[in-house]
Amino acid sequence: MNTFLALKHLHMLSVALLGLLFLFRGVLLVNGSALLQARPLRILPHAVSAFLLASGFGMVMVSAALPVWVISKLILLVFFILCGVMAFQRADKRSSQLGWLVLGLLTYAFIASIAVTHQPLGLLG
Ligand code: HEM
Repeated sequence: MNTFLALKHLHMLSVALLGLLFLFRGVLLVNGSALLQARPLRILPHAVSAFLLASGFGMVMVSAALPVWVISKLILLVFFILCGVMAFQRADKRSSQLGWLVLGLLTYAFIASIAVTHQPLGLLG
């Protein structure tokens, strides 16, 4: 298997894990579960994001190209992480927690649409 393909598999695995973790934490938030503050659930998303970034940058280096749509994904990933921090840790009012949760889900879907279309504005472009 070539290096790009191996990195892409790692990237896709990280993408799936990151999305599932966000959804799972969202379900815990909606149900008011104390499990949301469990240490592994607070650390794991950061580890998965690190793999996501490393595999993404790895593909950028192997292909020796940094297209605008990848830069757009990078910026939105920072916003996606902020949504998670706000929804699951920082926001104290329930309405704002749910607002950040929905915003995070929309951002994730938007990033995925950018990845698939290779357009900086994804399906909106
Ligand atoms: C939540 C964040 C992210 C999601 C949901 C995501 C999703 C995806 C998906 C679904 C693909 C496969 C697209 C396809 O083959 O049709 C992909 C490929 C890729 N992603 Fe990401 N990604 C994310 C973050 C990043 C970041 C931060 C970078 C750069 C540092 C990056 C760089 C790439 C590259 C270079 C490809 C390969 C595209 C190709 O096959 O030519 N991604 N991503």
